[in-house]
Amino acid sequence: MASGPRIAVFGAGSVGCFIGGSWLAAGCRVVFVGRERVRAEIAEHGMGLSDQDGWRIHLASDLISFSTTPAALKTAEIIALCVKSTGTVTAAKEIARHAKPGATVVSFQNGVSNADTLRSMLPKFTIVQAMVPYNVVHLGHGRWHRATWGDLTAGRSEATRALSERIGDRPGRLRLSDDMKGVLWGKLLFNLNNAINALSGRTILDELGHRDYRRVMAAAVMETLSLLDAAGIEPAKIGQIAPRLLPHAIGAPDFVFRNLFLRIQKIDPKARSSMSDDFAAGRQTEIDFLNGEVVKLAKALGREAPVNAAIVELVKQAEAGIEHVWSPGELRAYVLEGHRGAVGFGY
Ligand SMILES: NC(=O)c1ccc[n+]([C@@H]2O[C@H](COP(=O)([O-])OP(=O)(O)OC[C@H]3O[C@@H](n4cnc5c(N)ncnc54)[C@H](OP(=O)(O)O)[C@@H]3O)[C@@H](O)[C@H]2O)c1
Repeated sequence: MASGPRIAVFGAGSVGCFIGGSWLAAGCRVVFVGRERVRAEIAEHGMGLSDQDGWRIHLASDLISFSTTPAALKTAEIIALCVKSTGTVTAAKEIARHAKPGATVVSFQNGVSNADTLRSMLPKFTIVQAMVPYNVVHLGHGRWHRATWGDLTAGRSEATRALSERIGDRPGRLRLSDDMKGVLWGKLLFNLNNAINALSGRTILDELGHRDYRRVMAAAVMETLSLLDAAGIEPAKIGQIAPRLLPHAIGAPDFVFRNLFLRIQKIDPKARSSMSDDFAAGRQTEIDFLNGEVVKLAKALGREAPVNAAIVELVKQAEAGIEHVWSPGELRAYVLEGHRGAVGFGY
């Protein structure tokens, strides 16, 4: 029997369905708010969740409350915001219009600025930032698979503490942190690979098998770390590798990378970045909220971020319809060596 605070998962996509479904399985009261195509999929198949540790569960469709209208937010005490960062402003307007003032909005989005946007637009709500360390793959037919490891982490508040205690050690568990700024920047370091993965057109495992892609990623991380140092921000360790070691581990020769990095940082062979899905669907990506934040930080410090700026530029070209799958050597040459002439002309 479900009990506890009423939770609305706002933006029932990959992350929303996985975490909301896990919490429902843990006995929480959850309503999903999302699109008709997801509602119809769940109505037909129920919800199947699995993870890399072999956990599997199937929730029958009659156990799942799914609404395609934001009016369903009205009774929620906790709103788990799971739309892409590009949808934050629209979602905030819908929360302001439909949800109960005083509710807690927990952003499970990538990027470092969603909580600030939500605070400025929702002064009557408590805003808490959270972080999803793992990759969730939508396998179709109502199935979502957690493809990498880690625990959800949220800022400490009354609502997140109660939620964390209710879920306990079950899948979907929620750790609390007093340093969400560090946690978000630590996660963003990993997210710098989202764009490279999307530009490569490959699975993450295949992409990272190529040293030239890894060289680009290592340079993007190195550039970000240097800016974070200048800004006095200490990125938290997410996963098994300390932020300062990340560029060295990623940029290492193939043999070392495979035997060191991939042994401790396991990656599911099916995993792709969600930006790859955006490319495939022709959607606007979260690039402004990922590499774009690094470029913004550089500007604020009176500095430049040429590696991240070049990656932003390529993703914007893809968003504008210039289709190109970047080979490892092409991407390295373009981003790290400034060979810019041929973009859009057969590259
Ligand atoms: N996927 C992952 O593995 C992963 C891992 C860690 C963090 N994250 C982060 O988590 C966030 C969500 O990512 P995701 O991959 O779960 O995205 P997603 O699969 O696109 O899910 C978001 C869902 O919300 C829907 N939506 C957007 N605005 C809405 C609105 N106003 N009302 C109702 N539904 C709305 C979207 O529909 P439309 O597409 O029609 O707009 C989509 O179905 C992102 O910030 C992402 O970077 C993702």
